[in-house]
Order: sequence, then structure tokens, then C-alpha cells
Amino acid sequence: MNDVSVMPSIFGADFFNLEKVIALFEKVKVDAIHFDIMDNHYVPNISFGAKVAEDILKRTNLPSFFHFMVELDENPEKTLKQFLNLRIDHWTFHVENEHVILKNYINFFKRKGKKIGLSIKPKTPIEQLSPFLEEIDLILVMSVEPGFSGQSFLKESLSRIERVKNIIDGKSIIIQVDGGINRKNYKDILRAGAKSLVIGSNFYEDKKVEEWVEEIRNFS
Ligand code: DX5
Ligand code: ZN
Repeated sequence: MNDVSVMPSIFGADFFNLEKVIALFEKVKVDAIHFDIMDNHYVPNISFGAKVAEDILKRTNLPSFFHFMVELDENPEKTLKQFLNLRIDHWTFHVENEHVILKNYINFFKRKGKKIGLSIKPKTPIEQLSPFLEEIDLILVMSVEPGFSGQSFLKESLSRIERVKNIIDGKSIIIQVDGGINRKNYKDILRAGAKSLVIGSNFYEDKKVEEWVEEIRNFS
């Protein structure tokens, strides 16, 4: 992956035109695809399930990052049964889940040699990530309340990204940001310390997205 990676969130796409959407991802050479999985409990919305994700993954070789906005119960094999056989490169769970359960999920996927991320909602104290820093590959800083595409970036996320950068203290953990990223704010987000941007609605609305993705990668 590039030093700064860019991944569109498929949730923000027009689902009637997925074929064109995948062709656009390939043309733009995005680093990966971000899949938002929502269960209508953890967040007040439903996105899509394993079947749709699998069909999309069959049509591309791009890496896949899954963001699970689902309530985790004790047994990962049961909760995520439908997803276990999919080609998923990064598994990201919310740090707000119960500590013991989360540890169990992290161990479960680590044993399988998978990459693990932890996502944090805008109002959750950053310190909640601290007990997991030795075990994870990625921190996903939510810059909107999770559940919907097309919301505005929360300004306070910039200082939260800086604080995440401080607590990881040089460890090789990717700082990813998700929610409300646009052409106006992406530079501040990168300056704050983000290394990976998840872009939803603005990716699809941009008339020159290929150029924008290049700009993001060349920004330093
Ligand atoms: C929100 C999702 C995001 C969303 C981003 O809960 O996690 O991935 O699709 O969309 P935009 O960029 O439109 O905020
Ligand atoms: Zn997401």
C-alpha cells in the first residue's frame, strides 16, 4: 500500500451501478475497498450483508477493509459466521464493545493471522484504545457518528487524530479516518496524522476523483 492510502466506502455508492463503481475503483487505483457492516442495533441503520460483500469481492482483487458496526456477542464464530470465509484483509471492530468480548475477538482473528483494527466513535475517550495497542494493526477514528454516509466532518476529530498519534507513540499502527472527508478538509486530516482516508459520498460526487486521489497521495 502507498504511504497514504485511500479507500472508498462502498456504502456511499449507487447500488444500482455497482459494476461501474468497481470499474471506477480499478481505474482510480484505490488502495482498497471499505465495507461498512451495520446491524441496526449498534447503529440505527442496516447496510448490506455477507452475500452482497462476497459478490463484490468476486469481481475485484482490491484489498478489503471491513468496518463492523455490529453488536459483538461472545462467540465470533456465531456472530460473524457468514463473513468468516470471505476474502477480508482487515477486520475492524468498535472499541466501545465490552472489553473481554473484544479481547476474545482480537485473539480469535490474530490466531488466524488476520489484521485487526479498532474503531472509535467521536465521543469515546481515546484512552479506551490503550489496552489494545500491542495487538492491533489499525485505528479507525470516526469523524462522524457511525451509521450514515453524507454527514459533515466533526472538527474536533482533528485533535483526536493527534491524540491517537501520540498514544501509538511510533508503533506501526495505521491511523485511518472515516466520515465527512472532502477536498477542503483532507489536508488538515493528513497533517493531524492520518495515513489512511475512507471516503464515501464525496468520492462518488467528485467529477475528477482520479486527480483528487493522486493529490491525496502526493500530499506531504
Ligand atoms: C459511516 C461509515 C462511513 C461512511 C462514510 O458510518 O462508517 O464509512 O460510509 O461516508 P461519508 O464519507 O459520506 O461520510
Ligand atoms: Zn466505515
